[in-house]
Amino acid sequence: MRVLEDVSALREQLSEWRRNGEHVALVPTMGNLHAGHLSLVELAREHAERTVVTIFVNPTQFGENEDYDDYPRTIERDTRKLKATGADVLFAPAVETVYPFGVERATVVSAPHLTGDLCGASRPGHFDGVTSVVARLFAIVQPDVAVFGQKDFQQQLIIRFMVEDLHLPIKIVTGPIVRDPDGLAMSSRNQYLGETERAAAPRLHAEIEAIARALQTGRRDYQALESAAAQALEAAGFRPDYVEIRRAQDLAKPDRDCDEIVVLGAAFLGAARLIDNVVVTI
Ligand code: PAF
Repeated sequence: MRVLEDVSALREQLSEWRRNGEHVALVPTMGNLHAGHLSLVELAREHAERTVVTIFVNPTQFGENEDYDDYPRTIERDTRKLKATGADVLFAPAVETVYPFGVERATVVSAPHLTGDLCGASRPGHFDGVTSVVARLFAIVQPDVAVFGQKDFQQQLIIRFMVEDLHLPIKIVTGPIVRDPDGLAMSSRNQYLGETERAAAPRLHAEIEAIARALQTGRRDYQALESAAAQALEAAGFRPDYVEIRRAQDLAKPDRDCDEIVVLGAAFLGAARLIDNVVVTI
């Protein structure tokens, strides 16, 4: 696996692959890799002959009071893990490489109708940072396929919209959530949890699953289900941000006939903000 930091070196490698008729899959990450990320790399390798993984902690998607400075940067460990997955290139650029005119002057890509709700409501500007950096990574790598995790359900939906809206010839693949044995969705931020918090953390998934099961047994009192889950989380020591039942295709509030639903939850637990979701066909 080659580790590259410059766009020109990456482009040379990409041109060589293209000359050989090889397709390229991209897995964008912010590093501090866990089994969830590695499963996305494995999925990417099923979709193209070549895989590029990016590690870039993107400053524009962090709010002022968020953890940009403290975000775990573990490039050596990540490189070792990636080598074992069979990725072809790790692209780990500097901020100045991704934003050559500086973040203040950077072109912004935004999909406003999908970004003000759910995680976007409590993290204003977050998704503009995500679409802006993913558009840049797409422009740099020009992949045939890009792989994102389902854990960030809203993110992958926004990226799907962006790709269609901008006519980008990139297939978006969403990889399933990878969980610890007790159900907690793997996340780079789980390491912010203390011991007691870690023991409580799977409750978020448990509440979401309970709603999914209730929907499958025919319940359609969405608001009552959402409120009961939020209350249960609060009683378990969380500070719930939202528990929402939405239409999976566009995150609109579902009507009674909607059959493809996503149950989404976000809650603070100690210093961590956990998110999770379950897609359910009813
Ligand atoms: O999901 C992430 O890790 C990030 O939001 C992404 C897609 C790599 C963009 O910085």
